[in-house]
Amino acid sequence: MEQTSLQWLICLTTSLLCCTTDQARLTVSPSRSQLFVAEFLSLRCEEDNNSAGWTLRRNTTKRQMTQCGVDWEGGADSSCNISLTAKWDSGVYWCDSREGATSNTINITVTGGLVILQSPVLPVMEGHDIILRCKTKTTPSHLPAGFYKDGSLIRTEPTGQMIIHHVSKSDEGFYRCNISSHGESPPSWITVTGPPTTTAPSATSSLLQFELRLVFHLLVFCPYFISTHGVFVSTQTHRK
Ligand SMILES: *[C@@H]1O[C@H](CO)[C@@H](O)[C@H](O)[C@H]1NC(C)=O
Ligand SMILES: *[C@@H]1O[C@H](CO)[C@@H](O)[C@H](O)[C@H]1NC(C)=O
Ligand SMILES: *[C@@H]1O[C@H](CO)[C@@H](O)[C@H](O)[C@H]1NC(C)=O
Ligand SMILES: *[C@@H]1O[C@H](CO)[C@@H](O)[C@H](O)[C@H]1NC(C)=O
Repeated sequence: MEQTSLQWLICLTTSLLCCTTDQARLTVSPSRSQLFVAEFLSLRCEEDNNSAGWTLRRNTTKRQMTQCGVDWEGGADSSCNISLTAKWDSGVYWCDSREGATSNTINITVTGGLVILQSPVLPVMEGHDIILRCKTKTTPSHLPAGFYKDGSLIRTEPTGQMIIHHVSKSDEGFYRCNISSHGESPPSWITVTGPPTTTAPSATSSLLQFELRLVFHLLVFCPYFISTHGVFVSTQTHRK
């Protein structure tokens, strides 16, 4: 009887461990959506304590669901460095766990052109400011640039830099820029996320998911564990 309560305790502990953590973030350096050809790009799956068990994947126009360290070079599993970016590195990047969890996704565009828009690669919180910079490959100094959202000119900035103050959901969209005599950048999507208070529904749904997994473990896994372990103990005693 005492042994059974010990087994329940082991089971409860593993259940709690199994169901609490597993959410990775994909981070990227430099932290921007657009790169020129032949730049350095570093990608990492990051979990609170470690990144073990996560696999970095990408979809490009050429190939889907490919894996860092297996299908493309630069590292292994959870972190990858692309030392010289090429146009075909453009695509969607994310992290997968063996258990089927996925991280945030990141869109990367590598351009063979002469102009890039430096825009936030991660979603921007509502109410925060966004700084957009229009850069050329060849001229380090700031040149006047035009900034466009969903195909319409917002304004021209003499310094090549535009700040959008206190962003809201309506600022979401495709942004691009141009610099005369150099050309225009590819478009990049900017995502605006709600403040923490409005994300409450998703927090409760993940809590519900956690509770369902915990209940599953306590009702299905634990009795199974205890019965098989019990049989093991009794056969051991029988042999003695
Ligand atoms: C990647 O491509 C696969 C296969 O086409 C698709 O099922 C999946 O949703 C894509 N993932 C992302 C994050 O775009
Ligand atoms: C990638 O580059 C970063 C920073 O330059 C370095 O710390 C890290 O060890 C590299 N990772 C791999 C897998 O080469
Ligand atoms: C990536 O780009 C697509 C459009 O091409 C957009 O719908 C999606 O929200 C973007 N994802 C992120 C994380 O920015
Ligand atoms: C951007 O392109 C448009 C159309 O080609 C051009 O009229 C405008 O002068 C350009 N803006 C800048 C700042 O180069």
